[in-house]
Amino acid sequence: MVVLKKLENGFDILEIDNEFASAKIALQGGHIYHYERADDKQVLWVSPSSDLELGKAIRGGIPLCWPWFGMNKEDENLPQHGFVRTSLFHLESSQKLEDGSTQVILLLCDSKESRSVWNHRFELRVEFIISDSLEIKLTTKNLDDQPFTITQALHTYFEVSNINDVKITGLEEKPYFDALTTKGCVQKDAIIFEQEVDRVYQEVQDAVFLKDATRSIQINNQGSSSVVVWNPWIEKTKRMSAMNDDAYKTMVCIESANALDDERSIQAQENHTITAIITPLKED
Ligand code: BG6
Repeated sequence: MVVLKKLENGFDILEIDNEFASAKIALQGGHIYHYERADDKQVLWVSPSSDLELGKAIRGGIPLCWPWFGMNKEDENLPQHGFVRTSLFHLESSQKLEDGSTQVILLLCDSKESRSVWNHRFELRVEFIISDSLEIKLTTKNLDDQPFTITQALHTYFEVSNINDVKITGLEEKPYFDALTTKGCVQKDAIIFEQEVDRVYQEVQDAVFLKDATRSIQINNQGSSSVVVWNPWIEKTKRMSAMNDDAYKTMVCIESANALDDERSIQAQENHTITAIITPLKED
């Protein structure tokens, strides 16, 4: 079942419920901010101090960073992570699939406003499949008659029981760019958190696993080879918008991305799709 609701402040959300899971998606930003399997607990972290409000990005869930990830290379005054987090998508379709899962597709087209920031014609579709897994696919169609280049991320905030118990595996031996030291390094072992971490892992082809004291989650990516791992830790959390001081303890971002050398050039009238499939694993 998919229900479209308008909150009192005019903010539109979709509520999805099926035999596998429930989910909530904001039309602003094409932003899923709740996904919970029927037999499990919430997978996505959302800041308790983040409101659903027009013009403000939700702190948590899966923000879409598009058509650039991080700072804009040409103009540092443009918003970090692109302009889509506060753009209004519309519901293109929703349906129950044969296996009982729910598919929702949202669409954003270029507009006078988007062209004033990024002068290209495009269609941006985000497709969600709410099932035993959460699948999210972001497809960029270039409607210009020239190629354009994008970087992007499905900026997933995962809820964890305690950051001190978190281990991320699957990125061992991968090269990464450390945004804090601006140096390149190679990951030796599993990633653990004892300080701020802000890294872009490269050449990632296989699944990444997030484990805390209570569960494991598998993340499979397609159409990308970069994975961003981020936790702001104590000091940066205090400076962040819509985040309580202790927020870093219960969240970690593992972002499926096309970043750095993994930027994608899309030919005129062609598409590029980046996909993340997020599966909470059953413990033996
Ligand atoms: C991460 C970046 O992807 O997003 C961090 O690597 C950044 O450097 C974080 O702080 C949050 O960004 P924002 O724009 O949501 O505050």
